[in-house]
Amino acid sequence: MLRVENLRVVYQEVISVLHGVSLKVPDGQVTVLLGANGAGKTTLLRAICGLLPVYDGKIIEGSVLLEDTPLHRLDSSTIVKRYRTTYVMEDRPVFWYLTAEENLKAAAFSRWNREVPADIEKVMALFPKLVSLRNTKAGYLSGGEQQMLAVGMALMTKPKILMLDEPSLGLAPLIVRELFGIIRSLNQEGLTIFLVEQNAHAALSVAHTGYVMENGRIVLDGPSGELIKNKDVREFYLGTARVDQKRYLEAKRYKRRKRWL
Ligand SMILES: Nc1ncnc2c1ncn2[C@@H]1O[C@H](COP(=O)(O)OP(=O)(O)OP(=O)(O)O)[C@@H](O)[C@H]1O
Ligand SMILES: [Mg+2]
Repeated sequence: MLRVENLRVVYQEVISVLHGVSLKVPDGQVTVLLGANGAGKTTLLRAICGLLPVYDGKIIEGSVLLEDTPLHRLDSSTIVKRYRTTYVMEDRPVFWYLTAEENLKAAAFSRWNREVPADIEKVMALFPKLVSLRNTKAGYLSGGEQQMLAVGMALMTKPKILMLDEPSLGLAPLIVRELFGIIRSLNQEGLTIFLVEQNAHAALSVAHTGYVMENGRIVLDGPSGELIKNKDVREFYLGTARVDQKRYLEAKRYKRRKRWL
């Protein structure tokens, strides 16, 4: 189990972004983190993966524990190689000038061995669209194809925990459905998944548990089946709010109902 405990993060020594975040990512489950733009979701993923220093960020309090190992004291390459926790960043990081297949090979750099060619074929089987594109430069792929390649690259590191940052961003509904179908089947094969999303509907439909983050704090959590029925989540993340609601009244009602305020 991955556990985040009371995590506080600042950027540039002074910009406080996470104000004591705690959550759990149990083994074998899909855990989703919902939250609006700027809530701190990506910051949390960076903190878990040891990438904060790259962005001039720092953990000033709290911990990230994988079983009993404090990940927050390790560098990102050790977290991937030794602790098998891999993060697919939100901007679909693929090497534009390499072909799809070369990207998959490059992603296996941390574990190059005889199994790599077979693992490339496994990724191709999981994402059949990539088969005909294996010799195409990644820069020519569509957004959806690049996202699938980015997930495929993460799988080449043989993760135990896969963390995905808004994989549905900018993708057509049909592609989102396909991608979430793959996320579900990866989980059914035993992969632990931590999913950051704004597409609450798609995310909650594959997740076991969910958390909602606002302004650097977890404000709500529970089994995804409960969150999907929760009035606040429905209104503010599933877009079921009435269009004729006056903004102020809406905000007032929301605040009144928010137990956490
Ligand atoms: N390197 C940085 N230096 C200073 N502030 C930063 C830095 N990176 C992020 N922030 C700030 O931290 C806050 C949280 O950003 P973060 O990217 O974690 O949010 P997010 O929930 O992932 O948002 P989005 O849904 O838009 O991706 C924002 O106010 C952002 O401006
Ligand atoms: Mg983000």
